Amino acid sequence: SMLEAAHENEIELEGKCLGILYDHVFCSSRACEGSLACSTCHVIVRDGDYYNRLEEPNDEENDMLDLAFGLTETSRLGCQVI
Ligand code: FES
Repeated sequence: SMLEAAHENEIELEGKCLGILYDHVFCSSRACEGSLACSTCHVIVRDGDYYNRLEEPNDEENDMLDLAFGLTETSRLGCQVI
């Protein structure tokens, strides 16, 4: 997933701000280790990337996204983005 790639590249993910996927370093947490039981890995994807590079989130992810702080039209859970 995107978060795993970030960890492998030693990008700091712990913190309180929301993430911006692809061009920007983000800080995000991963409290449930990618099991879709939290929303701490919430990231905001740039419009072009969201619509052109990513699959639609599934129902489970959408349910958890509804609990995310600062939800936007292009929000995703980082642990679910390949
Ligand atoms: Fe918990 Fe992504 S790490 S839903």
